[in-house]
Amino acid sequence: MQLRLAYAGDRGMMVSWNTYSQLSSPSVKWGTDPNHLNHEDFSDVSITYSTSTTYNNHVFVNHLQPNTQYYYLPQCATTPSSFRTGRQAGDGTPFTFAVAVDLGTMGSDGLSTTVGKGAANPLKPGEINTIQSLTQYKSGFDFLWQPGDLAYADAWLKEEIGGYLPNTTIADGYKVYERILNDFYDEMAAVSSEKPYMVGPGNHEANCDNGGTTDKAHNITYTYSICMPGQTNFTGYINHWRMPSPQSGGLGNFWYSFNHGMVHYVQINTETDFGNGILAPDEPGGSGAENAGPFGRYPNEQIDWLENDLRSVNREKTPWVIVAGHRPWYLSGTTCPPCKQAFEPLLLKYGVDLVLNGHSHLYERQAPINNGTVDPAELNNPKAPWYITNGAAGHYDGLDTLPATLQSYTRFAIDTVYGWSRLTAHNCTHLTHEFVASANGSVLDTATLFKQRKCKLDYPKA
Ligand SMILES: [Fe+2]
Repeated sequence: MQLRLAYAGDRGMMVSWNTYSQLSSPSVKWGTDPNHLNHEDFSDVSITYSTSTTYNNHVFVNHLQPNTQYYYLPQCATTPSSFRTGRQAGDGTPFTFAVAVDLGTMGSDGLSTTVGKGAANPLKPGEINTIQSLTQYKSGFDFLWQPGDLAYADAWLKEEIGGYLPNTTIADGYKVYERILNDFYDEMAAVSSEKPYMVGPGNHEANCDNGGTTDKAHNITYTYSICMPGQTNFTGYINHWRMPSPQSGGLGNFWYSFNHGMVHYVQINTETDFGNGILAPDEPGGSGAENAGPFGRYPNEQIDWLENDLRSVNREKTPWVIVAGHRPWYLSGTTCPPCKQAFEPLLLKYGVDLVLNGHSHLYERQAPINNGTVDPAELNNPKAPWYITNGAAGHYDGLDTLPATLQSYTRFAIDTVYGWSRLTAHNCTHLTHEFVASANGSVLDTATLFKQRKCKLDYPKA
């Protein structure tokens, strides 16, 4: 169950799935013919944590050809699934990828047609949710990227206090937490068993308490102290995923990069590990009250890695550099000033093209911005990074509300629709972002970035 893929270097794919029992040597059979899976890879990674109800199995499938269809059968599965490997760096063929942020469980444990007290924006009867929309449109994108806030299992107590889920005791809450996690990853398997699913850390991965949950009726505020052992410090997230840090010099699932065709993708961690004496939101004493991390082996590890990674990009082969982090620092709403302080100087210095984020549950497209000032070129060959916030994928708590006055750098905003982002790299110079409404697939906003530059791209036969 919970079958999920992730790109793992130029020639690899990480295949992950969960089982109720530990596997002594998880294996994946694979090949290009579904009736003849003539290769097999193994690992010794079948791991769990206290309070988890499952084991996370991770097998690295290697020696693959780029942009090639493979069939694969993880141990315990009965029918093969398939994936397509990543495009070689420098491949100039146009392609599309999907991004969703703040995408939580759908259905009886999450977003449905009803909500409890304190939540809003239920789905309309029969309305297609974001997981269903991504599933419906998956043939149109190469992979899905979710920079933070997956599942919202830590909303379990909020959902109970709101009368949406039946009450358990605090001690038994872990069962609800784990059930939500398992539900979410099972729902996502409709996409993630076929499309690589790249993820980043968000505050809702940090622990079990949602950064503090208040029961107003009984005047009790719960903090991370209620979390069972194994539910703090991003434990579930660390166990569940194997992002391509070994291949990119990053750190676990917290920060890493990968290439796909003409794009270099960078996942940053806006939750912990800012270095340079800057307190990150989820760290002990930080604004997010999550009491997690830091994770780096030394205080500036993430920033040093980011600078080295950005400096090393071959812009003739991967002209587009797209950075995703969970929290925004340009938005008509609550922003993350320490994130700006930590990351913006490097993103400016190395000419990052686009910064994607979420955390606020709405959609807002901003202009290219340099330290608070709009790049006068707008999308016509700007020097500064272009920013887009799309945290409107949907979860139990619904959507956030835009302030009455939007920022002067805001170019389009909507706070009443669930949706995801579809991005298309056309060539060396043009990249389009679309906001897709989950309910009906309509595109509610589209914008294209132009960059004047020369590339050395290849056009291999598919
Ligand atoms: Fe968040």
